[in-house]
Amino acid sequence: MSKPTVFVTRIIPEKALQMVREHGAATVWEGELPPSRDDLLRAVAGADGLLCLLTDPVDADVIDAAPRLRVISQMAVGYDNIDLPAATRRRIPVGHTPGVLTDTTADFAFALLMAAARRISEAERFARAGRWKTWGPTLLMGQDVYGATLGIVGMGRIGQAVARRARGFEMRVLYADPSEPEAARELGAVRVDLDDLLAQADFVSLHVPLTAATERLIDARALARMKPTAILVNTARGPVVDRAALYDALVSGQIAYAALDVTDPEPIAPDDPLLSLDNCLIVPHIASSSVATRTRMAVMAAENLIAGLKGDRLPHCANPQVYG
Ligand code: GLV
Repeated sequence: MSKPTVFVTRIIPEKALQMVREHGAATVWEGELPPSRDDLLRAVAGADGLLCLLTDPVDADVIDAAPRLRVISQMAVGYDNIDLPAATRRRIPVGHTPGVLTDTTADFAFALLMAAARRISEAERFARAGRWKTWGPTLLMGQDVYGATLGIVGMGRIGQAVARRARGFEMRVLYADPSEPEAARELGAVRVDLDDLLAQADFVSLHVPLTAATERLIDARALARMKPTAILVNTARGPVVDRAALYDALVSGQIAYAALDVTDPEPIAPDDPLLSLDNCLIVPHIASSSVATRTRMAVMAAENLIAGLKGDRLPHCANPQVYG
């Protein structure tokens, strides 16, 4: 029997590609940039399986263009780029990669928090520019992390992992979430409503998925509630923050600093005004990017894909209703 046809939208870690190739006749998009919409539409036309990334908009038209598609497997925990209802209507299971990137992402959120608090990227630019003339009594003064109040917006797996790290820094941890996970209580984190969190937190770290309810959750009104010394960390999704309002808040001193792993849009335009600000640290969506974790994510995506091709239940399925 011939192998099922699979489209992989970018070169992923080799171990996972080998797994995919064992089970499918794989076409791998080898460009540095994602396939264009036309390329994607063409490539899915005869595909039984699709292994995609968060940079690929898999909307209803893409799904419609793939009459044979039996599985969509995303190499990411978030899947806001995929039209889940459209996939579910076609009874196509959508795989994703929860769990394996939790600690790596939490490490990175904490790294951003600390880098912003202690102005590390500014200080590094200062040293490289040859501006370090002497030890200065007030040079590049930042804010203490230990003992400060951390507000976690979204207390899922990653939010909880950030809270665990915060304990080591003797931080007071507040969180806003529709549910009250037992793990949060065990960590001593206190649930408050979002407005109270914004008003009290020295650091606000975002860990919500992007949905209609969380889009622009941090808008001008939310930013206005924050302390003028507050630091905003976003490792969730760019559109959770209103970027124009964020720019205004950073320029006017309404908040002190932002550290962003994600932007809206991605990539951020080279002339985006946020890039001109010293009090905004921006990195290119790399929170889960350790060698071990990206390999685990790719393997998990391959496992989901292979299960779908075989007609087995996906180990990590975002729309389990397809099995109901
Ligand atoms: C990365 O942002 C992911 O969703 O895995």
